[in-house]
Amino acid sequence: MPINLRGRSLLSLDDLSPDEIRFLLRLAAELKAAKYGGYERPRLKRKNIALIFEKDSTRTRSGFEVAAYDQGAHVTYLGPSGSHIGHKETMKDTARVLGRIYDAIEYRGFGQTLAEELAQYSGVPVYNGLTDQAHPTQVLADFMTMREFTHKHLSDVVLSFIGDGLDNVALSLAIGAAKIGIDMRIAAPRKLWPDKALVEKVTQLAGQNGGRFTLTEKVSEAVSGADFLYADVWLSMGEDEAAWSDRIELLTPYRVTREVMAAAANPFVKFMHCLPAFHNTGTSVGADIFKRFGIDCMEVTDEVFESSGSIVFDQAENRMHSIKAILVATIGA
Ligand code: CP
Ligand code: NVA
Repeated sequence: MPINLRGRSLLSLDDLSPDEIRFLLRLAAELKAAKYGGYERPRLKRKNIALIFEKDSTRTRSGFEVAAYDQGAHVTYLGPSGSHIGHKETMKDTARVLGRIYDAIEYRGFGQTLAEELAQYSGVPVYNGLTDQAHPTQVLADFMTMREFTHKHLSDVVLSFIGDGLDNVALSLAIGAAKIGIDMRIAAPRKLWPDKALVEKVTQLAGQNGGRFTLTEKVSEAVSGADFLYADVWLSMGEDEAAWSDRIELLTPYRVTREVMAAAANPFVKFMHCLPAFHNTGTSVGADIFKRFGIDCMEVTDEVFESSGSIVFDQAENRMHSIKAILVATIGA
């Protein structure tokens, strides 16, 4: 079946069919090879892309900027301050302005409905660069990285997410995994389980595509036989800082340690994280948590993070190549 993503937005993994996901993964791998091989051809000449960031970013911003520059496009960064978005101008009005000036818009912010509103009223492709609910561009980079680190087809892979079951990355991974037939498991305390409707949707989708979805409180059940163990922060951007104490108490049993990696009983098991990660006390937040709670890491130990099984920086690099694939597929010449 021919794939045509021209003019399309990516607000959530729900927007892509299994074939479209596989197509973007192939295109991302080709674009990566072309850049490494010195034969990349710019397909985004004279394109202009607005990058809205209402939350901080290192990888997503760098990924969009370098992907655009490599392909001949220009970007405008609109940060949390400096534009009128939100305080003097609604998203609907902003969308109608930016849609007249830009060929596409990236949006990182809070509510998913704001990204949807931008797409509805701008008339140009909108890419979700992370909202409270979803992080679809991260998942494409993750699947691309998984393909690089296993000889298996993705539909034969076991992916286990350990930690906050309401995490935006976990939920996007679950939807993406269900679309391409991955055996996806989430281990999380019951208090942080996604709602029933989402679990039913993902379970049904996984069944249709030859995959499986398991939600459990037991880390051992989730990790047994896993190819990839995935962690994310215990408190996401925009969540109330006062929740740290509760989260630490709830999620400490879900830290990815050497023992958890060993429980996969797979010598080739890999550790994944979207980053940034709290694996030591080298950041102001990490140091503050150490002072208040006496722990020198959160979701992953420094030992696992720095181990040879950790592929977190490959994921980070692939953010750029996979974002480039999305740009080329949706607005490329
Ligand atoms: N993984 C990710 O989205 O990283 P940034 O917050 O640095 O963009
Ligand atoms: N769940 C994290 C992901 C950061 C890339 C957050 O939303 O802060």
